[in-house]
This record gives sequence, C-alpha cells and structure tokens, in this order.
Amino acid sequence: MGKRPIIEPFRVHTVQAISMPSRDEREEALRRVDFNLFGLRAEEVIIDLLTDSGTGAMSTKQWAGMMLGDESYAGSRSFFRFEEVVKDITGFGHVIPTHQGRAAEKILFSAMVDEGQVVVNNSHFDTTRANVEYRGAEARDLVHADGLVPSHVAPFKGNMDLDALRDSLEADADRIPLVMVTVTNNAAGGQPVSMANLKGVRGICDEYEIPFFLDACRFAENAWFIKTREEGYADRTPKQIAQEMFSLADGCTMSAKKDGLANIGGFLALNDERLAVESRNLLILTEGFPTYGGMAGYDLEAVAQGLEEVLDEDYLRYRTRSVEYLAEKVLAGGVPTVQPAGGHAVYVDARALLPHIPPHEYPAHSLAVEFYREGGVRGVELGSLAFGVPMEDGTEKAAGMELVRLAIPRRMYTQSHIDYVAEVVLDVAARAGSIGGYRIVEQAPWLRHFTARLEPVEAGPGG
Ligand code: F0G
Repeated sequence: MGKRPIIEPFRVHTVQAISMPSRDEREEALRRVDFNLFGLRAEEVIIDLLTDSGTGAMSTKQWAGMMLGDESYAGSRSFFRFEEVVKDITGFGHVIPTHQGRAAEKILFSAMVDEGQVVVNNSHFDTTRANVEYRGAEARDLVHADGLVPSHVAPFKGNMDLDALRDSLEADADRIPLVMVTVTNNAAGGQPVSMANLKGVRGICDEYEIPFFLDACRFAENAWFIKTREEGYADRTPKQIAQEMFSLADGCTMSAKKDGLANIGGFLALNDERLAVESRNLLILTEGFPTYGGMAGYDLEAVAQGLEEVLDEDYLRYRTRSVEYLAEKVLAGGVPTVQPAGGHAVYVDARALLPHIPPHEYPAHSLAVEFYREGGVRGVELGSLAFGVPMEDGTEKAAGMELVRLAIPRRMYTQSHIDYVAEVVLDVAARAGSIGGYRIVEQAPWLRHFTARLEPVEAGPGG
C-alpha cells in the first residue's frame, strides 16, 4: 500500500509543442538578453518554471464553460455563477471580480490604507508590498523566524509570528488599518499557514478591533497541507477546511491565476458593506462594471469551474506530491532547498550551494542562469537581485535568502518533464564550484530584476 506512484488524475486532451533550442542557441539567447531570463522568448525555453501564475492547463469543463460565457455588460449570467461559487467557498457577502490579484490589492488598499500607516503580513508578495508602499504605507513582514531558515523542517513555516504581531499592534494599532496573511506564503518558500495560527491571528485582531484579510492565491494548496499535517483535519474535505480558513477572516484578495486554475482573473471578497460600496466604485473606475470587473464573461466561467476543480482531493494529492517529488530528487543529490517542499514550487538555496559567490554578485541569479544554460529550464531569482536594497554608500543590503524558485504550472508538465528538471539541477550542482557571479550593467529604479542588464563578473573590466 502507498508504494505505487500518485499519478496525474487526468489525461492529456490537447497538446502544445515544446521547442528544443540547442546549447549554442541558449548561449546566444543569454547574451542577447544580457543574462536576464525575463528577456527570453517562450520558444527559447524548454521547461518554463518562471511562475505558476496563469500558466496552468485548463480542463475540458473549463473550456466548455467558456462557450457558455455570457458577455452582457450588466447582470451577466456568468457573473452570478462566479459569485455563487466564490460565496460558497469563502462565505463572504460581497464578491468583486478583478482582472488579477494585484488589481484586488490596489482597490483594497486604496479603500483602506493611508500614508504613514502599516500593513502587517506574514510575508508580502512583491506586488502586494508595492501596492502598500504605493499608498505611502509600510509593508511589515512578521513571518515566524523558522520560516526564514531554508533547511529547517517544520509543517507550517508560513505561520505568522503571533508574539511579533501582538507587539506590532500594541505599538502601532492606531496606524494599522488591516492585517493580512498570505496562504501559502509565496515569498518564503510556498509554505503553509496552520488553522491554529489563523485562529491566533483572528483572536489578536479581535482584541485590537483590526480587520483581517487573507491573500488567498493558493488557498486550496494551504487547505491540503492543513488536512495532511494538522491534527484534527484528516477527515475534513479540502472544501470544508477552506471554508473554515475563510470564516476566520473579514475578506480576501485572490489571484485566480493560481488556485482558480485559470489563465487570468481574480477577485476581492469581503463582508463590510461600506467597504464593498467603496471598492465597487473604485472597480468601475479602473476595472469595469461590478458584474464583470476586469474579466470577460467566459473568464468568469473558467474561474468558477476552476475553483470547484481545485478542491478535488485527487488533484491536490497529485499537485503537492509532484512538487515534493522534484524536491526529493534534488535533495537526494545533495542540492539544498527550502524544506519541506512548498505547495507550488521548489526553492533551491543558492546561498548554500554557491557559498563562494557573495550576495552583491547575485548567487541566485547565477544559479538561475545556469539552469537555463544547462537544460533550458527557466526559474526565477528570489534573492538579492530582486530584493537587495542599494545603500547610500554604493553598497547593497543583501536579501534575507538567496533562492531560485522553480514554480510548477498546474496540470501542465508530466513526471518525465520533472525528471528532466531534476537532472538539469543535479548537473549544475555538480559543477557549482566553477560557477561565477554577475554584476549589474544597467538597472531601473524599482523592480529592477525584471529589466536589469547583467554581465558575468570575470568578463567585465577588472574582473
Ligand atoms: N499574492 C501572491 C501571494 C502572489 O503570489 C501573487 C502573484 C499575487 C498576490 C498577485 O497576483 O499576479 O494575479 O496580480 N504571484 C505570481 C508569482 C506573479 O509568480 O508568484 P497577480
């Protein structure tokens, strides 16, 4: 029992060709994009693990649902289906559709956050942080310290540090308009948050009468980890667990590009009537009329169907197992990763693998480039290139961790693709000692990792 592989609980219905650029072509591409993997064209990538956002495969029922899309400007039938599904899972009274997660964040923070205030989160995702900072507010991360040690093994490393939350509220309650918890915690390893921790956050927010919102992008993966790791939940369905998670919060922002199993879409859902009215007014300004927001009627159908499919036990068992499988394979070969595997991605610890490259030469960036060079595998740097802070004296404050995230799109790649990725990672790790760092040639004043131009350190003047 239990020894047989957990298979994909679907079969392939439509296929999309993968192009196979040669090593020389990849070398040439790297030079053309100045060693920034965001500059690559899709056909230059063999396995694309840049993100799990909007990149998954939809089901036949989702595609069929799209044919039923009602494109009425106001009162679309597809909206009412979407609203019913979101209300059923979240229990929130108001459902406001947006084109993706960051649009929901922008609207929520425009309605709730003012200059000089502080938003507390376990770890802000980068668009969430940017939207808080855009309001002139501080985005404060209070993930438990264990969550920041890649090699530490614990079941719920996404948990908020409840003592730190209490301290923050004690000191600054009058400037904290809301508390958020991100499930799962993408910025720190895709790690889940326990129900006990969510209850703890709720209790503390109640004491200080502060609203509590979930950043719910990966709520179904989080629910699965609660089911399989937290005492008392083994016999509950993922849907019941998700419903309990949402019942602890006053609202949520959601990117349906993750656990909505759709290629685009999102929503803001909440209980407060006044806030809902204000949010809908903002929605009309930038997204669209409240019965479609930023989505087409057919997108509303795809998301509604996706939200039902994502809570399927066979799907979630396969989903989390396929990510864990990759983590196990690379770990068995001695490659350090964030432990345990996250729900949507494997995060390789470049600081541990390339200790000879200092943070200001971007070890995680080097590693991401090598995965591409070696096998056309594209991951994303989450280290000092993305999060380092340039200081006034010309030096840089390093990021807390130097990680390369290999995010697995949902229902897209098969086990042999993942085996291939593992071998590429191991082949790169075998020559870790000879991998060098990078320097930035040109960068933008913010979110520089998307567009920076880089060069290998030894190739530059004086290098
Ligand atoms: N919150 C979290 C935790 C996210 O991971 C993302 C997106 C967002 C909010 C924003 O949602 O993209 O629909 O506007 N994460 C993607 C990623 C981009 O690659 O991790 P969005």
